[in-house]
Amino acid sequence: MCGIVGYVGPQSALDVVTAGLKRLEYRGYDSAGVAVQADGGLATAKRAGKLVNLEKELGERPLPAGTTAIGHTRWATHGGPTDANAHPHVDNAGRVAVVHNGIIENFAALREELTGRGHELASETDTEVVAHLLAEEYSACADLAEAMRLVCRRLEGAFTLVAVHADEPDVVVGSRRNSPLVVGVGEGESFLASDVAAFIAHTREAIELGQDQVVELRRDAVTVTDFDGAPADVREYHVDWDASAAEKGGYDYFMLKEIAEQPKAVADTLLGRIDGSGSLTLDEVRIPANVLREVDKVVIVACGTAFHAGLIAKYAIEHWTRVPCEVELASEFRYRDPILDQQTLVVAISQSGETMDTLMALRHAREQGAKVLAICNTNGSTIPRESDAVLYTHAGPEVAVASTKAFLTQLVACYLVALYLGQVRGTKYADEIRAVVRDLASISGAVERVLDTMEPVRELARSLAEKNTVLFLGRHVGYPVALEGALKLKELAYMHAEGFAAGELKHGPIALIEDDVPVVVVVPSPRGRSVLHDKIVSNIQEIRARGARTIVVAEEGDDAVVPYADHLIRVPVTPTLLQPLVATVPLQVFACELATARGNEVDQPRNLAKSVTVE
Ligand code: F6R
Repeated sequence: MCGIVGYVGPQSALDVVTAGLKRLEYRGYDSAGVAVQADGGLATAKRAGKLVNLEKELGERPLPAGTTAIGHTRWATHGGPTDANAHPHVDNAGRVAVVHNGIIENFAALREELTGRGHELASETDTEVVAHLLAEEYSACADLAEAMRLVCRRLEGAFTLVAVHADEPDVVVGSRRNSPLVVGVGEGESFLASDVAAFIAHTREAIELGQDQVVELRRDAVTVTDFDGAPADVREYHVDWDASAAEKGGYDYFMLKEIAEQPKAVADTLLGRIDGSGSLTLDEVRIPANVLREVDKVVIVACGTAFHAGLIAKYAIEHWTRVPCEVELASEFRYRDPILDQQTLVVAISQSGETMDTLMALRHAREQGAKVLAICNTNGSTIPRESDAVLYTHAGPEVAVASTKAFLTQLVACYLVALYLGQVRGTKYADEIRAVVRDLASISGAVERVLDTMEPVRELARSLAEKNTVLFLGRHVGYPVALEGALKLKELAYMHAEGFAAGELKHGPIALIEDDVPVVVVVPSPRGRSVLHDKIVSNIQEIRARGARTIVVAEEGDDAVVPYADHLIRVPVTPTLLQPLVATVPLQVFACELATARGNEVDQPRNLAKSVTVE
């Protein structure tokens, strides 16, 4: 939610910052802007709309060259997506420029105070007050980092702020509370960004900033303090992927590339954690085995696609561990006074590691004494840092706003947690657990096989481009897969799409079935839980009898569905609980293709941002 970049060094700062913004555009694309220190002053440019509008503006009216600059790509919160509300914001004298990610909750009071002192504010944003406050504090202390500390102590809410001052050449100052900010340390140059992707082309050495810290960036020095000015502890780390991982690599869209990367992402997430004998080792889960044995309830908190991974995890955790598991939307969790104690294990699932709803849920859980295990894809992000332990997914950077490979790796991580809990606690399913661990070893090959057979799915999607509604049905773990299929279609194709538990259909939703409405049905395996399979075959017949066009996702060799499927999508045979790893993939491809056929922007769907750092 909003991307921020800052640079100080020998290169053209505007080039570095605009290239960084391009890599962060997934975080918001309502407007973009830059400010550069040049000729003893500051020059700014900003434009509503995507970064390309700003680039056009810079092409027509170039800013003077400079070696220190900041930039911003916005997802609007306070104030619409206009030129005036675009960041950077400057004070009345134009000596300080600031960009911001988050929400300053007490901005109205601060604004009133400032206008009372004669400041003139030009935008509707919460951010602009910071530029004016910084200018006031700077005029008293002549030290931008100190001015930032003084201002931050007055702010309420969530904020990452990055500022430059005309009177402090070659210095960029940043601060963070609840929103992400990482430092990139280069040779004689330094970077600040919401995400390492912004500077990965220049350096892979990063510093993770903690909560309530202020950083002063110079070419050869990075100084970090808390809001009171005391030196702060920081964690340095090496980013283990390179610039090519954050590029399209020949694909038209990041989403297509990320769908195609799923076999590797799954394999990487399993690497070193399972072995051929059927046992698994999760050394990173630093919660001692005796504590895990005492756990009497698991609660999963997450949002959106990650929440769907959590719904699937519930089936796996309860089956393999016999420990009750609740799954809750993170945004609802802390407001209903949930029952938690030291024996509760809370699992927080988040690709970005920055989702504010999930972060607030995990903080609430820890305050109640629960242990928190994060499942996360982003090294150095806030959610793993504030958790008791973290199991990283190794999907690599996910740039497309709609989550695909991160989801599959979240599923893998959830299975690992479930199996590990079962292994540590010992259950009657010990043999099954070992067998499933062995099955996981070949699961990335199964995902690959699904990808190899997607052309008919793409063709089908194109043929449905004019439809208004697609419904999704599933049972057991196929139900969250149906929810995920519907979510992908909503966010990418902007169509009415809904997922239902197939058994619920007759309790209301069946009224939606009319002639030729497409209904995607995720069919459980006929092996094992054959009752479930038989019931969903009946459901398919029920909707078909009412005119639905049935699109059936079924395991290879499941012939019972053939007479009732208008379109049949085959997936490889897997153990029942692992089926979402293969059944989700065609639904991702389906949504992506349908969106393209409708002329939609696949990587940057309207109104969305990848990292949701506001509640
Ligand atoms: C949907 C999607 C979102 C995210 C959700 C949580 O395609 O990407 O629903 O899954 O915003 O984000 P993370 O996993 O970063 O916490």
